[in-house]
Amino acid sequence: MTAGPDRAARHAPPVARERLPALLAVMPKAELHVHIEGTLEPEMIFMLAERNGVALPYANLDGLRGAYAFTSLQSFLDLYYQGAGVLRTEQDFHDLAWAYLQRAAADHVVRAEIFFDPQTHTARGISMATVINGLKRACTEARTRLGISAALILSFLRHLSEREAFETLEQALPFRDDFIGVGLDSSEVGNPPEKFARVFARCGKLGLHRVAHAGEEGPAAYIRDALDLLHAERIDHGVQAATDPQLMARLAAERIPLTVCPLSNVKLCVFPDLSRHSLPRLLAAGLCATINSDDPAYFGGYLNDNFQATFDALALTAQDAWQLAANSFEASFASAAEKQSWTDRLSACFEAARTS
Ligand code: HPA
Ligand code: ZN
Repeated sequence: MTAGPDRAARHAPPVARERLPALLAVMPKAELHVHIEGTLEPEMIFMLAERNGVALPYANLDGLRGAYAFTSLQSFLDLYYQGAGVLRTEQDFHDLAWAYLQRAAADHVVRAEIFFDPQTHTARGISMATVINGLKRACTEARTRLGISAALILSFLRHLSEREAFETLEQALPFRDDFIGVGLDSSEVGNPPEKFARVFARCGKLGLHRVAHAGEEGPAAYIRDALDLLHAERIDHGVQAATDPQLMARLAAERIPLTVCPLSNVKLCVFPDLSRHSLPRLLAAGLCATINSDDPAYFGGYLNDNFQATFDALALTAQDAWQLAANSFEASFASAAEKQSWTDRLSACFEAARTS
């Protein structure tokens, strides 16, 4: 298969550099790596805490925001799980997803594949029905009211056991048609892919798509294991692949997408700053890399903020912009017809930027 940059060269019209920021903002794009619990803004945490009578350990918004200084993935996860404790009712889950989807529409997101962490909620006595029905209602509304195609991916918490993952899958089966796949998130190091090989095999038999966080803080070997042991179709983060040339060649040859989250990687100290990010090396090697926001309420920006900051720091080009957006459609689990129509819209958007 032809590597990405060659294909882009045939499709992306040349665009003047000064037009790039506006183009990044308005070009259609897919977001494939966003945790709905990570879109819970401080204002909504306080609003839901009041609505549900939940006591917070922070006196005000500034107190909460002041705690958002992370030194590692775990230091973030501790706050992220605490924040999610204000979500109680189906309406809460709906309102959370609806707020994200409106924000995504403003960033010209046309497709969103959204992670949710049911175990964070079922462990607190919230039913699977409450979580999925609320999220699903917002996704359905997004299609008619915002023109966004939105789908859910159930993510297993890898710091919990295989048995708990199997139980979660069983609880979710009555809602099988409300989510398109499964993922694997939470504390990576020490919780390798092999721990969930049997759960993922069962998910494969159920016809669910399979993705996994790998190579965020963990080693490149976890990426290989996610492919070989979990049969992951897409790797979330995957930025450590840049340390392993053989793996890079495989990811390029098999066109395995990576859902890269630049602002997240800096906030969680995976890279010291954006200018040191591995994204340019991934793109240069012809990988199907994409840009995503991960947990935008915690990491300082939604999807367009990630694009803008990354392009500024790494001096990426209009060619890269076209490639990243085209990759996001290719990497999505949408139908071939939807992918084609978004890619056509992308080309039209670039053509308009060239001629306007
Ligand atoms: N990594 C692992 N687990 C997560 C993340 C992440 O970036 N965000 C939310 N859960
Ligand atoms: Zn993530």
